[in-house]
Amino acid sequence: MSTNKGLALVNRDDDGVNQDFRSDVLAGLSEAQKAIPARWLYDDAGSQLFEDITQLAEYYPTRAETQILRDRSAEFAERIGAGRAVVEFGSGSSVKTPLLLSAIDPAAYVPLDISGDFLRASAEALSQKYSGLPVYPVEADFMRHVALPQAVEGLPKLGFFPGSTIGNMVARTSVDLLRTMRETLGEGSQLLIGMDLIKDKDVLIAAYDDEAGITAEFNLNLVRRINRELDGDIPVDALKHVACWNDSMSRIEMHLEARQDITFQLAGRSFAMKQGETIHTENSHKFSRRTSQTLLLAGGWTPVARWLDDQARFSLILAEATVPRSAP
Ligand code: AVI
Repeated sequence: MSTNKGLALVNRDDDGVNQDFRSDVLAGLSEAQKAIPARWLYDDAGSQLFEDITQLAEYYPTRAETQILRDRSAEFAERIGAGRAVVEFGSGSSVKTPLLLSAIDPAAYVPLDISGDFLRASAEALSQKYSGLPVYPVEADFMRHVALPQAVEGLPKLGFFPGSTIGNMVARTSVDLLRTMRETLGEGSQLLIGMDLIKDKDVLIAAYDDEAGITAEFNLNLVRRINRELDGDIPVDALKHVACWNDSMSRIEMHLEARQDITFQLAGRSFAMKQGETIHTENSHKFSRRTSQTLLLAGGWTPVARWLDDQARFSLILAEATVPRSAP
């Protein structure tokens, strides 16, 4: 998958500054709890650091989800069946998408991504691997309704949204996205979605604060990006990466915490942080069977099957866009 939102469809001013980035950063640093939307973590360096995170011993989600896709291929074939157009929200990772495509024998593959670069690379790789499979890449922001290529109009659809990227959104945004996906895919479609599970707090914190410091680099890279792109002088060394478990919200939060009182300038404005004050940079919600079910139902999807890895760390859920009965 790709969470790279930074490379295409960019709204730049005359100086080449990404205006959406600047306004999100300026607004977020002006709040009482400073916060910057997580999508800005994924410039080229951030996307590469995220790929490195997926290889870490502590970061279990990628391995756990891949294991499910590998071990349960016969069940996917049975529940999903052949002949569907697979619509992937975010370009396919090199490992997960082929596992799914090999399992279900689809009629077409439609990768959707906001970044044309990621899209072309993944479409090309998949076309080479499956020579008979029509691939129709669509460069689009999947948070909004997407018109699918005419060639797949009459085909039954399977949406694929792996990685528990849904967990990076607050509930209201994730419900909006699920509804939008339903609109994009149409009535009667299926959705195969990865959702990470609630587990021991120490396991979760280790996954987001690894020994080698790669997740810390990923978080601090945002500050480097701000300094570079928004003409800032935030003292990177004065900030430290913190990952904590917010139990009432059932999520891991990433923050950047000031080691001492600091002041800095960016985009011509002055800011200050007290020692211990943080900038909130990411949420990663974790789900139980019930909360995942409730979220999917709220988004218009009825869960019909659920698979876990052998250590019950991660879930892949198959849901259907069927008309819900309004009375028992
Ligand atoms: C992309 N997303 C699902 C990752 C996650 O686990 O929430 C992003 C991430 N942030 C830190 N480590 C990984």
